Amino acid sequence: MTTKTAQANPNIAFIKYWGNRDNNLRLPVNGSISMNLDGLFTRTTVTFNSSKQDSLTINDHAVLGKGLERVSSILDLVREMANINERAEVSSTNNFPAGAGIASSAAAFAALALASSHAAGLTLSEAQLSRLARRGSGSASRSIPSGFVEWKMGTGDDDSVAESIAPPEHWDLTDCIAIVNASHKKTGSTEGHAIAGTSPLQNARVEDTPRRLDICRNTILKKDFEAFANIIEHDSDVMHSVMMTSNPPLMYWQAATVGIFHAVREWRANGLPVGYTVDAGANVHVLCLTEKAKEVEKRLRELPGVENVLVAKVGGAAQVV
Ligand code: PMV
Repeated sequence: MTTKTAQANPNIAFIKYWGNRDNNLRLPVNGSISMNLDGLFTRTTVTFNSSKQDSLTINDHAVLGKGLERVSSILDLVREMANINERAEVSSTNNFPAGAGIASSAAAFAALALASSHAAGLTLSEAQLSRLARRGSGSASRSIPSGFVEWKMGTGDDDSVAESIAPPEHWDLTDCIAIVNASHKKTGSTEGHAIAGTSPLQNARVEDTPRRLDICRNTILKKDFEAFANIIEHDSDVMHSVMMTSNPPLMYWQAATVGIFHAVREWRANGLPVGYTVDAGANVHVLCLTEKAKEVEKRLRELPGVENVLVAKVGGAAQVV
């Protein structure tokens, strides 16, 4: 019986992943770039033992059905690689508030890939871990490496992996995450990826992605905040245009979401270095230079519809604890 624990940060995408060319392997239609979110993490413990079935608890609640199946499919890949048959007990906790609208699947599957492979006696390379995490949730591939990360679409399963393009200390950015109330039930990203191709705008978005990736990568490497803010807002708006025009349409924004967009652009025009981006939800990630984070957090808290603000600097790699 072997027990191992690992932890991983969630990440925020600057150039978004939306749509798969292979839904089962989670091979994306385009590359993406993100930053890990320091201080927020999922910690997962995996024990292989003699029980008859895999089991899963998240924040001390037993999970069955589809959630457990998704975890078991990753454990199956690990069992195959390690040539073992034991079932596993998986228990996972998030240190960020449940329902805060932080996509937890990236941190969860990155921590699961690391903890389960170690518990099975495997020592996988960063690329192998990224690939394994990708099978649970595409964006989880980006929560394995450290800092600023690019997930290359690759030519297939073997090379569709994420790697670090700059360490956390490269650029002192902070993500101020404005939590707005989203009372409607949102469509999960797995279903969202599956209908991305129904939008007439998706092909144009995908074709133009190499250009946006190059711009974004360069703005990070050169630490050019103004250009960075422009490209992340543009990319987020492009992805949400696809979402809104897919069939069925996905409208993740709330009135407060749009209110924050206007405020952020006005603040930037008046000299405050800020830029927004939104994943598959209503909450707005407002990126800024860390020296301005207190001011940005204060201003966000004063906006209508903002219920809370979480603050995260650039995070490191997934690690065994
Ligand atoms: O990894 P998934 O299937 O949860 O998809 C993530 C999709 C977005 O968060 C909207 C974009 C991204 O690149 O993280």
